[in-house]
Amino acid sequence: MSSQPSSSSVAQQPPRIVVLGSLNMDIVLRVPQAPSAGETLLGRSIAHIPGGKGANQAVSCAREGGRVHMIGCVGNDANGQALRDALAQDGIDTAALRTDDAEPTGTALILVEDSGQNRIVMIPGANAKVEIDEAALQHQLQGAAFLVAQFESPMDQVTLAITAAHGAGCKVLLNPSPVQPIAGPLWPCIDTLVVNEIEAHALCGQAVDSPHEAAAAGRALRAKGIARVVVTLGARGAVAVDADGAHHHPAPKVKAVDTTAAGDTFLGALAVALGEGQSFDEAVRLGIRAAALCIQQPGAQPSIPRRDAVLHSPLPPDWIAL
Ligand code: RIB
Repeated sequence: MSSQPSSSSVAQQPPRIVVLGSLNMDIVLRVPQAPSAGETLLGRSIAHIPGGKGANQAVSCAREGGRVHMIGCVGNDANGQALRDALAQDGIDTAALRTDDAEPTGTALILVEDSGQNRIVMIPGANAKVEIDEAALQHQLQGAAFLVAQFESPMDQVTLAITAAHGAGCKVLLNPSPVQPIAGPLWPCIDTLVVNEIEAHALCGQAVDSPHEAAAAGRALRAKGIARVVVTLGARGAVAVDADGAHHHPAPKVKAVDTTAAGDTFLGALAVALGEGQSFDEAVRLGIRAAALCIQQPGAQPSIPRRDAVLHSPLPPDWIAL
């Protein structure tokens, strides 16, 4: 049922992707398990690692071979410079990355349990000061395969970017995380929606605890005017829903060290593969393989794999029609 991309189905030019989103310095605490309310526990380690959903997704797009423009905002501080440098190392265009003198660079406090599961609290800081230059955005959108956005940036700027992309004929790939309601007029502007179980539940009101429930949620979300929906299911893979139906893509079995940025890694691989002209199923499968590599390494951006590593990773089981 599944297939590898044929050379004829893949575009020659690397797709261009415009990412609007957050940049955070992640403060990562390794802990045996998350503490209960009122409990003090001894952690194992602390590390400062480049992250932020927007920046992670931009890095994933770049490591998959996309040409990436990042729109965001960092503070005028050492963390901001480190995050800029991290994007530059991956060849990402940061001309539309602002530096704000008043707010510190965004921060995320991440607890990673021995199981690999995480809990994240994000302090937006300078991410709240993103100001889109509409003329520059219009220029970036010309010929771009996707505008990619999440909800760690101010909603008015996300709305502006999505509306502009839709008007310019550029497809929108939205990852509404952290989840909040999506305004009615925005739904038909979205080409591809990527949500986890919690986000799917919040947006369509249906509980998602199984691939079949993910398919039902995906169909309900598609009915709002979206072409393609992916509901990610962690170790159980993802369910992809489009006009051809719902397919469950199982994930390869791997030992999770740190699940941080798995969703961002998936999204970047998906965006680039779709931009190359690969089928929805091929793109989802590639994203799942990339995410499986990501969770075997600690940290956000350092754990995001390159395309050649993804193509050399074990194949997951075939997809199942739901
Ligand atoms: O998706 C993972 C990211 O969420 C982390 O890097 C953290 O910065 C938060 O934005």
